[in-house]
Order: sequence, then C-alpha cells, then structure tokens
Amino acid sequence: MLDINTIEKLDRIATPFYYYDMELLRKTVDFVADLAERHNIKVHYAVKANVERRILEYISSKGFGADCVSGNEVLHAHSCGFPAEKIVYAGVGKTDKEIYNGLKLGIEAFNCESLQEIYVINEMARVYGLKANVSVRINPDIDAHTHKYVTTGLYENKFGISQHEFDKLIDIIKKSEHINFYGLHFHIGSQITRVSEVFALECCRVNDIVAYFERNGLKVDNINLGGGLGVDYDDPDENPIADFETWFETINANIVRREDQNVHIEPGRSLVAQCATLISRVLFVKSGETKNFLIMDAGMNDLIRPALYGAYHKIENLSAAQRTFFPTHQAYDIVGPVCESSDVWGAGRLLPLSVRGDLMAIRSTGAYGQVMASRYNMKDLAPSVFSDTLDEAPQVVDYFA
Ligand code: LLP
Repeated sequence: MLDINTIEKLDRIATPFYYYDMELLRKTVDFVADLAERHNIKVHYAVKANVERRILEYISSKGFGADCVSGNEVLHAHSCGFPAEKIVYAGVGKTDKEIYNGLKLGIEAFNCESLQEIYVINEMARVYGLKANVSVRINPDIDAHTHKYVTTGLYENKFGISQHEFDKLIDIIKKSEHINFYGLHFHIGSQITRVSEVFALECCRVNDIVAYFERNGLKVDNINLGGGLGVDYDDPDENPIADFETWFETINANIVRREDQNVHIEPGRSLVAQCATLISRVLFVKSGETKNFLIMDAGMNDLIRPALYGAYHKIENLSAAQRTFFPTHQAYDIVGPVCESSDVWGAGRLLPLSVRGDLMAIRSTGAYGQVMASRYNMKDLAPSVFSDTLDEAPQVVDYFA
C-alpha cells in the first residue's frame, strides 16, 4: 500500500495513469544484476513486458541485454541504450524489413523459429555481404504449468523448431555460409510459479538437446533458457521482488555447461511487474439487481489481462485507506467503462465502503499493462507517472471551478 503523502499527490493527478515506483524498479534490477554476476548467468530483459523509455534506460545502464520480438522493439531497445551486440531477436514471423534492420544493426543474434527463416536470413545476409549470428529456438515440449495462452513450449504451440526437424536443421545450418551458429534458445512460458520443478525439467531437456547438437558437429556456445519467472499477484507487498534466487539456483544446479559456454535468461514480467500500479478513480457506484457495481475510469483498454486471461490483480481503495473512521466493508463487482461485459477488474471483491471520486490502485501492472493497452472505444492511453518526478504530472481538471 502506498504511503499517505504519495496518495495525496496522486489524488491531484488526472486518472487513469500508470504510477511507477522507480525505487522498487532500481532495487529489483540491481538485485538481479548482482545475482546474475554471482551465478555467471547473462540477463536479457524481455522488452515486450514494458517499453517505457526510462525503464529501458535504467536496465540497459546496468549492463543487461535486450530480448526483442519485433523490429520496432529492436530499434527502440537500441535507442534506449542497449548496444546492438546485446540485442537478441526472436519471433515466429519476422518480416523482410525487420530482418534487414536487424542485419544492418549487427544484432547479437536472430533467434530463428523455422527452417525457412534460417534460409531467408542466410540469403539476405549473402545479398548484403554480411554474416548473421543465428540461434535456433527449440520447442522442447515441456509443460510450464501456466495459463494456456502463455504456455509456449509444447508441441501444440507455434513456437520454435521441434525434434523431428533436428537433423534437417543441423544440415541447413552447416550449409548456410552467411550465418554463424550462435546457440540454442528456449522459452517455455510465462508466470511460472512451480519454479524449481519446471525450470529443473527445462534444464534437463536442454542438456539432452545441447548434447545432440554437439554430437552432430555444432558447437553450442550460448544456451538461452528464456524467461517466465512468476510474480506474486496476490500479495505484492509481501513479495515485491520475485524469487530470482530459486530460479538462478535451479538453473545452476541442473544445467550442464562447459566453462566457455554462456547461459542466458530473458526475464520480462519479473523485472517490472511489481513496480507499477494502475491508478484509477471510482466514477459511479451502482446497485444492480443482485450486486453492487463500482464503475471505474480505467478499463480493459488500459489493462487487458483480466479480460483476456482472467488474470487476478489486487485492488485497493486508496482514499478509504485515508479515512479515519473504522470502515464498513462491502462486496463489489469492480468494472471499467468499456462496452464489453468482460471489462471487469474483479467480481465480488470485498472493499471498504467506496464512493464516487475514490482513488483506486490496481496493483502489479508493470508488465504487459501499458504495452497491451489499446484505444478501443477511442479512449485516451493512460500515461506514465514516475515516483521521482511526481510533481510534473498533469493535474486533474476541476470542471466545476
Ligand atoms: N522470451 C520470450 C521469447 C518470450 O516470448 C517471453 C514472453 C519472454 C522471454 C518473457 O517472459 P516473462 O519473463 O515475462 O514471463 N501477455 C502475457 C504474457 C505473455 C508473455 C509472452 N512472452 C501476460 O500478460 O501474462
């Protein structure tokens, strides 16, 4: 929960907006940088989770690389301080323009997801007289035990190259003169909470696959295990920093590597989720036939996770927390303004008695929040407000003045 001074300042800012706790961001990133160095693991931040310039600039300043999934992410990451030689680029559907830009920039590696893609990159590199670093994304067929929309490492998923094509793949790589074989890439899913079990399984499978490639004449210098570490959406105050220790320890206990072999990971959510809160206001309180509705000014256009995945985000009434009398509680269906019945923040949530104008906090929204926002219903995009420049934020307009 935010402190009273901060809440008073936030109350003067036009809602909805994403409030970034820059101190927590720095604490998280510094903690991971230190841990990574001690475990000899390289970290690429998965840019897709949050593309806010200030966040990227801080993460790049700590020496992290960037994991991108579109040409624009590559260019943006580069403009935010990530050197080209620390940018990797995955994605099942790279366009010619995106490949061209990556080649010209000289990125660390393309993480290729099909045989045809390797062929195209090799041809483009030939035409432009360049050599491309190519890693291969493998589909290891591992269940990450997470939501089915964010499970990526099963054969039923579109990602990576699967086992039945390994021999053809090795053959193509050997014959492609305009690529350097850089390594193997894996990413099995997101919001993984069974950390030691799932990542140990991933490492064991990776060991077998790396050994197969090396037996067949391809030296695997870089092993990229992807991202996926889950965060605590239920209790962000109890666990503001995700369990990176268990993740790193599980990797080092299970991965087999030579001294000259690099191990990479690509966390997105776990670096940024807890540092943002979507701040919204209660517009109206309405009593329905069977329930009470709290109608907020933030909706699924601002954060689509509840509507798309049924995701849980903790919601707090910040104004009620400041009232000095003992609050009565009530169950509300907290909803947004968008014309869709799935625009629900939480059903039957118990909150202190809430009234029009109350300031509300939707917690843990730093990852896959702003980046997935849309202008559906022609709503404005919620801006970013930073804890260290709070006074510069646009103030709320009093239409009755
Ligand atoms: N590497 C690759 C290749 C990925 O596709 C992803 C995420 C990551 C790394 C980072 O994963 P993370 O550490 O953030 O779990 N919109 C969904 C999540 C989609 C994840 C997509 N890929 C959500 O809001 O839950």
